[in-house]
Amino acid sequence: MAELSVDLGFCTLKNPLIPASGTFGYGEEFAPFFDLDILGALVLKGIYKNTRPGNPPPRLCETPAGLLNSIGLAGPGADKLQEIIRRLSAKTSTPIIVNVCGQNDQEFVEVAEIFAAMPEVTMLELNISCPNVKQGGACPAQDDQHTYRLVKRVKEHVHKPLIVKLSPNAADIAAVARAAQEAGADALSLVNTFLGLAVNLEKRRPLFANTLAGLSGPAIKPLALKLVWEVCRQVQIPVIGMGGITSGKDVLEYILVGASAVQIGTVNFTEPAAAVRILAEMEQEMTHLQINGLNEIRGKLLV
Ligand SMILES: Cc1cc2nc3c(=O)[nH]c(=O)nc-3n(C[C@H](O)[C@H](O)[C@H](O)COP(=O)(O)O)c2cc1C
Repeated sequence: MAELSVDLGFCTLKNPLIPASGTFGYGEEFAPFFDLDILGALVLKGIYKNTRPGNPPPRLCETPAGLLNSIGLAGPGADKLQEIIRRLSAKTSTPIIVNVCGQNDQEFVEVAEIFAAMPEVTMLELNISCPNVKQGGACPAQDDQHTYRLVKRVKEHVHKPLIVKLSPNAADIAAVARAAQEAGADALSLVNTFLGLAVNLEKRRPLFANTLAGLSGPAIKPLALKLVWEVCRQVQIPVIGMGGITSGKDVLEYILVGASAVQIGTVNFTEPAAAVRILAEMEQEMTHLQINGLNEIRGKLLV
């Protein structure tokens, strides 16, 4: 049996597979489909301090190999999520990661503090990269200096491992990655969705109320893989790669370019038990390629 465990430095995962924020509800919804304990960890849908309705419909548009979304981080607010996490942690021992959002830097800190105080929460993922919210400050990951200030401030207030989630829409993602590392991030995750445009030809208008939306799914895999490769060469902290993963081979490709672990997103919508299949495929592929452990190939892309 191949060795699948992943040492992030601050935490060891039994395997590298983590459902991505916003594509796995609050975990509970997926419990009927498979045993959540098989996962390396799981990330909950992004959360603000207060309840948010999100954007008006339409919110989703399928593309030939992907999904455009403009959900706008709808959510029940921090109080309600704490109740959900208590219930979820009674059902699974898999590490729970909270995806922290904020309308401004102060709110990011407050939300991070609330969930850092919960023993049921293993790590925080700072969502500084959502393309679907209009308020100022919603996407600090566009800017390395803003990223540095915010990550530093959150790290001063919370003492839980902090993953910082980066945007593929930044002009220089490697600079933002370095800024997050310098400010004290424990790990990075990338990428969030790519900005895209869908139009309603009859109405001669954008399909989405916010004009632009976020593209995810297989369509973005080569683009995301390239960004993960670039960032892995620039930082020393662990990188969690994502974007378009649908198979065990995809996971190994992300590990080969340097990712410590991966997140799987859009595939959860079309196949709720995708994690089970992907994990099995990964093990088969490792056996086939005679890879005994992930460390053997991590970051070993020959270029
Ligand atoms: C419908 C939808 C909702 C999402 N919500 C969030 C969110 O709340 N927080 C976040 O950090 N990322 C969110 N994302 C981005 C995903 O976590 C992931 O970064 C992205 O979809 C790329 O991975 P994939 O191609 O495997 O889906 C969302 C993506 C989708 C499709």
